[in-house]
Amino acid sequence: MSELYNNQVPFELKIKSMDENAQGGALEKSRPFGVASNGKKYYIESYGCAMNFADSEVVASILANSGYDSTKDYNEADLIFVNTCSIREKAEQTVRNRLQGFKVVKKRNKAALIGVLGCMAERLKDKFLEEEQLVDLVVGPDAYRSLPNLIEEAVSGQKAVNVLLSRDETYADISPVRLSSNGVSAFVSITRGCDNMCSFCVVPHTRGRERSRPPESIIQEVRNLYEQGYKEVTLLGQNVDSYRWSEDEKIRGKKLIDLKDTDLVFNFSNLLEEVAKVAPDLRVRFSTSHPKDMHDDVLHVIAKYKNICNYIHLPVQSGNTEVLARMNRTYDREWYLDRIAAINRIIPNCGISSDIITGFCGETEEQHQDTLSLMREVKYDMSYMFFYSERPGTLAAKKYADDIPLEIKKRRLAEVIELQNELSLISNQADIGTVVEVLVEKPSKKSEADLCGRNDRNKMVIFPKGNLRIGQYVKVKITDCTTAVLLGEVVE
Ligand code: SAH
Ligand code: SF4
Ligand code: F3S
Repeated sequence: MSELYNNQVPFELKIKSMDENAQGGALEKSRPFGVASNGKKYYIESYGCAMNFADSEVVASILANSGYDSTKDYNEADLIFVNTCSIREKAEQTVRNRLQGFKVVKKRNKAALIGVLGCMAERLKDKFLEEEQLVDLVVGPDAYRSLPNLIEEAVSGQKAVNVLLSRDETYADISPVRLSSNGVSAFVSITRGCDNMCSFCVVPHTRGRERSRPPESIIQEVRNLYEQGYKEVTLLGQNVDSYRWSEDEKIRGKKLIDLKDTDLVFNFSNLLEEVAKVAPDLRVRFSTSHPKDMHDDVLHVIAKYKNICNYIHLPVQSGNTEVLARMNRTYDREWYLDRIAAINRIIPNCGISSDIITGFCGETEEQHQDTLSLMREVKYDMSYMFFYSERPGTLAAKKYADDIPLEIKKRRLAEVIELQNELSLISNQADIGTVVEVLVEKPSKKSEADLCGRNDRNKMVIFPKGNLRIGQYVKVKITDCTTAVLLGEVVE
């Protein structure tokens, strides 16, 4: 069981079970030619955002290269890894509960090792070893190359920890083993870390400074995926719009603003264009866009290439300028609405979604109303919505009282969700009667007779299976909808 419960994810909110994925078989074969099995098996499950899922694929590659085989049954694993998320308290609690479930494995097999990877490892460091006695390894997101050595340490009976964050690790040379993939769409990381310091957010603390991956390695990975039959890539970063690459070592790491000659720098719109050019039938998505950095150049590139999906996830967090300032989002309501106007002007019929937090420190009833009014104004197709959860060590935790009572946070969240459901329904109803192009992704969860896939605007469409194949593009006439999905008939 792996849980993908964050935004930045172009997929619907879902629990992914290992069985659902092509994990077992695909992975058994993933050990590269010439690498002998060391007779040990590992099991990995992932929580949190798409970036964590992409990281698990890097971990799988590192382990495969060291001779480990995978298993989708943790009962037979010598190594159990949990790639964790710290974004909200509930995310951490889910992982802690899950770890308790692995106690039985250790009882049965004293030699089995349990490793905590990812953001909780980074946040809690060796405190984790005190708090959760059954954990043997704690490995932060920038330390995965050291996993084989750490495993050896742990096998010899020591507790192994590496939570060093790096300024330049991007795992650029590692070819991920596609764990959570349907063979049709894949994640490709383009940046790591985040420099934004939104006051509520733990990510800069767990993932470290932002760094961009060299463009050649990104393009190469996309080409390889296309050659393997993939039909869609999603470029991933906490803030894709701040992607920056320069060959000039002097420029690397500096802010673009310091530069005189911008031609020396390869930015997100340049990268997006290069990725779009890999193949006209390879769909390109990306996530997440940051309102402060999403400029018109990116929108023009999206408009220019048919294979770049007309969909932007542009989290607003709050519709009130004062709250946004306390959140340290560095834009205000007007700036955000100007970006929305630019999207609608440059990319007609673009899907737009958001992330929203209710009950942030000091949020008044009027300020909450501003979030609702902004949602009505933008008419989001979809949103990921949360009530504020204070995270230790963040700017907000240090500076502001978490003073909105839980029941008010939850009531405001319910209002936001209710409004979003109305907006989603209106948006979906407007599609009835239209014909949309869908990339067939997988069987529908609800009915064996149906398949599903997303359209250009990232809406999930369900249609009868017929003789269609996964990975094929089809034209579907929309006949009905719910708040979450479109239903239709294949017309071509
Ligand atoms: N990089 C992305 C978001 C990363 S975190 C961006 O800047 O938009 C994903 C989402 O989790 C955030 O957009 C925010 O809505 C939510 N989130 C982050 N920290 C949170 C917290 N402390 N409490 C509640 N929600 C939070
Ligand atoms: Fe967190 Fe803000 Fe960075 Fe997104 S941009 S990861 S919300 S600090
Ligand atoms: Fe992602 Fe959660 Fe870490 S959202 S970056 S896995 S804290």
